[in-house]
Amino acid sequence: MEQNGICLDPTWACISKYFTPKDISCMARYGLALDQCASVLENAGEIYERVLSGNMPKGGTRWTPEMCANFKAWMETPNPCA
Ligand code: HEM
Repeated sequence: MEQNGICLDPTWACISKYFTPKDISCMARYGLALDQCASVLENAGEIYERVLSGNMPKGGTRWTPEMCANFKAWMETPNPCA
C-alpha cells in the first residue's frame, strides 16, 4: 500500500526507505546503523519515540503520522527482519 508516494507496508523493504542518506550517514557517527534491519530493530522503541515526537530526524523532514504508525506496526510483526 502507498499514500502520497510513501510505502505503508510493515516490511523492512518499506521501512528502510524512510531513512535518508543523510540520516544514515549522520547516525552512523553515533553507532546507529539505520541501513541495517537488525540495528534498527534493536533500537526500535527509542527510534519510534523520537520520530513520533519529531526529535529525529534532526534538521530533516518530520515523519508523517502514517509513517510512524507503519514503523510501529513493523516493529510489532513476528519477524520484522525476515
Ligand atoms: C535511538 C535513536 C536516536 C538517537 C539516540 C539519536 C541521537 C542523535 C544525536 C545525539 C545526534 C547529534 C545531534 C544532537 O546532538 O542532537 C543526532 C543527529 C542526527 N540524527 Fe539522530 N538519533 C536517533 C535516531 C535518529 C533517527 C531514527 C533518524 C532519522 C529518521 C535520525 C536522524 C538524525 C540526523 C539526520 C542527524 C544529524 C543532524 C545534523 O547534524 O544535521 N536520528 N541524533
